[in-house]
Amino acid sequence: MFDLILRHANLPDGRSDVDIGVSHGRIAAVGQALDGSAGTEIDATGRLVSPPFVDSHFHMDSTLSLGLPRLNQSGTLLEGIALWGELKPSLTADVVIERALNYCDLAVAQGLLAIRSHVDVSDANLITVEALLAVRERVRPYIDLQLVAFPQDGYLRKPGVTETLERALAMGVDVVGGIPHFERTMADGALSIRRLCRLAADRGLPVDMHCDESDDPLSRHIETLAAETVRHGLPGRVAGSHLTSMHSMDNYYVSKLIPLIAEAGIHAIPNPLINITLQGRHDSYPKRRGMTRVPELMAAGVNVAFGHDCVMDPWYSMGSGDMLEVAHMAVHVGQMTSLAAMRSAYDAITVNSARALGLEAYGLDVGCNADFVVLQARDPIEAIRLKAHRLAVIRRGKVIARSVPKISELMLDGRPRQLDTASFAPPLPDL
Ligand code: FE2
Repeated sequence: MFDLILRHANLPDGRSDVDIGVSHGRIAAVGQALDGSAGTEIDATGRLVSPPFVDSHFHMDSTLSLGLPRLNQSGTLLEGIALWGELKPSLTADVVIERALNYCDLAVAQGLLAIRSHVDVSDANLITVEALLAVRERVRPYIDLQLVAFPQDGYLRKPGVTETLERALAMGVDVVGGIPHFERTMADGALSIRRLCRLAADRGLPVDMHCDESDDPLSRHIETLAAETVRHGLPGRVAGSHLTSMHSMDNYYVSKLIPLIAEAGIHAIPNPLINITLQGRHDSYPKRRGMTRVPELMAAGVNVAFGHDCVMDPWYSMGSGDMLEVAHMAVHVGQMTSLAAMRSAYDAITVNSARALGLEAYGLDVGCNADFVVLQARDPIEAIRLKAHRLAVIRRGKVIARSVPKISELMLDGRPRQLDTASFAPPLPDL
């Protein structure tokens, strides 16, 4: 007897027509034609049942603030930072909480149940930290929200931030952040990495830095981050976010750098939607894409997780909390069009991101948390292609969001005919 059984599910790893039995919020059995009954049965009818989406890089303190106090005219990262600086004096904890909770509703509807959000610790009042700590508690029953102490205005560049960052950690922020490319000099950037890694090692915290988020082919902060990760014994606990300068670096240098990143066990977190939008803004033509070298990092064994980064804020006017949109962009920007590469893009918004965040009991094995998304698609690649509709979102064995299948009604010859866009495509060959 189970609390819940999901029947006839296709799993992302290729298993098909599988049943999943849930007891006490955990997966109790996985197999074909499971015996037993349950209080709730869901027939997935051969559709994809996935562990929930995981966003490894987001900014929940700025989300849904688009247009306040004005729009980003140049479209650059630096104007976005300046614009955020104009907005911050008017922020209250209540306003930040309200927008963040609205975003979390959107996230749940999209099956996005774990988010690592950076939170700006540049201002002495730490309103953003106070707000997102409150949000973390409010959403705990349905979203695993991790917070990163992010010195948006520079750890060393802005006076007082070394102190406010430590206060944020003392208040309960989970991860040490950084922004070495925004410090005044390359030397200051390297110094900030050394000091922040030391701080993390002393406190037993993970590290996640915005790193080399520029088109500068000579930016070298990920090299320093890799070295400090090894020096402080932090492999597996450090993430380098963005890494866009790697797009523009000399190929010979990258052939040395990627093995160093792999050796240090650093998680690479590109943000395809934002990288393709913000980078290359100083180019005429040809314009660089700006996303880091995802296939090459994956081939070297680096754990690559994709982040959404921004939704309707000073840096990005679009976004919908849909991690499939993120993977879809990555497939295009990174030319990841082989079957294996498209499949790996799905991993980057699920299992790889869960690994980067250190989530426990994540996955579809017996003993894992009973957290699922039922998609209107048959497999991960179809899910990315269609940015598939979420039919049900389940957390600890309970349905927390659901929707009816997206069906169009065609009236081409006077008689209505229903079209399920996820049902007519030819099946893909096996990998
Ligand atoms: Fe970011």
